[in-house]
Order: sequence, then structure tokens, then C-alpha cells
Amino acid sequence: MSTETLAKPLTGRVAVVTGASSGIGEASAEHLAGLGARVAVLARRADRLNELVSRIEKSGGTALAIAVDVTDAAAVRSAAGRVAAELGGADLLFNNAGVMLPAPIEELATDQWQRQIDLNITGLMNVIGGFTPQLVKAAGERGVADLINTSSIAAQNIFPNFAVYSGTKAYVTHLSRHLRVELGAKNVRVSAIEPGIVETELQNHVTDDGALQWLEGSKETMEWLTPQDIAETVGFIATLPPRVNLQQVTIMPTRQPN
Ligand SMILES: NC(=O)c1ccc[n+]([C@@H]2O[C@H](COP(=O)([O-])OP(=O)(O)OC[C@H]3O[C@@H](n4cnc5c(N)ncnc54)[C@H](OP(=O)(O)O)[C@@H]3O)[C@@H](O)[C@H]2O)c1
Repeated sequence: MSTETLAKPLTGRVAVVTGASSGIGEASAEHLAGLGARVAVLARRADRLNELVSRIEKSGGTALAIAVDVTDAAAVRSAAGRVAAELGGADLLFNNAGVMLPAPIEELATDQWQRQIDLNITGLMNVIGGFTPQLVKAAGERGVADLINTSSIAAQNIFPNFAVYSGTKAYVTHLSRHLRVELGAKNVRVSAIEPGIVETELQNHVTDDGALQWLEGSKETMEWLTPQDIAETVGFIATLPPRVNLQQVTIMPTRQPN
């Protein structure tokens, strides 16, 4: 094996990362580019995506910024067309954009319920719909492709007042298990990553006082994960030998109890 293959094991691969303008997506896009993949970075904030592309290019990588709202299915289809035309089609999809807006259910924060369902479920499906044909085609031609969905520990454990968010993430985990069986036969590996608390902008959108206090309090008792911790996990999954599909990865801060 050449030194280049060892140092840049994703050379020749094309990755699409959603939610790439901050947090886990941003760190993962940079990490995958560092491993040699050409990376399309998707989110709504074009300025943040352009800064990321500049950083990747400065380090010798290749990246393409596509400003898109993933809740808009037509816009996602057009983004997929650009990835096919400009990068030759995706063989690695990190389907990661998401929002967390906890609140007691009796507050009837229906706008926040809807925002979570629209992005974490409908947006996730729009991206799967837009890019699965490219993954299947690439796997057929090159032997392997990856669909990695960002779920959460909230898909497994019970967090009071996080019911709607947790429900959307349970959807992501269960969907991923089904898709693994369906797409594995075509050499597309499917994984769900379930992180505990990671320090990102996710917490900045929380408006519920109780949840904010719970999050702040948790900082006193544990060191939160960093986006880089998740980025390295994504890189690990994608660089495994083609016969190996890491189906579900739960990654917790060491001191987070549940
Ligand atoms: N942080 C944690 O503790 C944690 C734990 C478990 C799971 N997760 C999951 O990790 C994923 C990434 O979150 P993060 O923690 O990295 O939070 P973050 O920093 O807030 O990142 C969320 C990303 O999603 C993008 N986004 C939001 N709405 C979008 C839309 N309509 N269309 C396209 N992109 C959109 C945001 O960019 P724009 O605003 O520019 O669009 C941003 O890039 C989420 O699925 C989250 O549920 C996070």
C-alpha cells in the first residue's frame, strides 16, 4: 500500500456533508477532506460554508459549497445535480443537519415541534432521496459507498421534556437499521451515529429555561464531547474495509450517565 493511500485513505471518494456550516458537520467535512475525500458542504449559511471551503482548499483539499435548505426537496435535488456534475457523484453521505428544541409537551410549542420534524425527519429524507441514487451507482462502480446518519443518544434513553426531539432521533436510528438491510445488498453501508452531548451551536437554539439549566448544570459534572470526536468517528466508519459496516455507534462523554 502506498504512503498516499495510508495517509489519505479517502482519496478518490466524494463526500456530501449536511449541516456543514457549524459543529459536527463542519468538523467532519474538514476531517474527511483531510483524509483525501472531495467534499460538498451543505447548509443554509453561505458565508460559513465559503469560509470552510477556503480552509479546506488552503490545506490542499477540494470542497464545494452549496447553500441549501434541506427541508426544500426541490432544492436538495438541485444540489444533488450539482454534486453529480461538479464532483462526479457522491459515494459518502453524512446526513447530519438537525435541530434540538426541548420543552415540556404541555407548553404546546407546536412551532418548535414542527421545526424539529421538518428538519430532523423530512430534511433527512429529502437528502436520502436526493443522494441515494448516487450512492448506489458509486457502490456498483467502485465497490462501496456510505450513508451515515446523525441520530442521538436521545434515540435510546429517556430525557424528560425532549420527547419530540428524541422521537425524531428514534426515527433516524430505526430508519438506518432498515436501510442497512435494504442497501447493504448493493454495497452501500448504512450507519447511525448516536452522540451524547457535544459542544456545538445546537444548544444555542434552546429557549426552554428548564432545559437550558439542565444543559448548563451538566457542564459542571462532565466534559462534553467535541465536534472533532464525532468527525473522527465518521472518518473511522468510512475507512473500514468494504466488508465492514459499523451499524450503530453510541459515543458518550465519559461522565455522561445517560
Ligand atoms: N450537539 C449535541 O450535543 C448533539 C448530540 C447528539 C446528536 N446531535 C445531532 O448532531 C447533528 C449536528 O448538530 P450540531 O450539534 O453540530 O449542531 P449545530 O452546530 O447547530 O449544527 C446544525 C447544522 O444544521 C444546519 N441546518 C439547520 N437547519 C438547516 C436547514 N433547514 N437546511 C440545511 N441545514 C440546516 C445548520 O446550518 P445553517 O443554520 O447554516 O443551515 C448547522 O450547520 C444534529 O442532527 C443533532 O441533532 C448533536
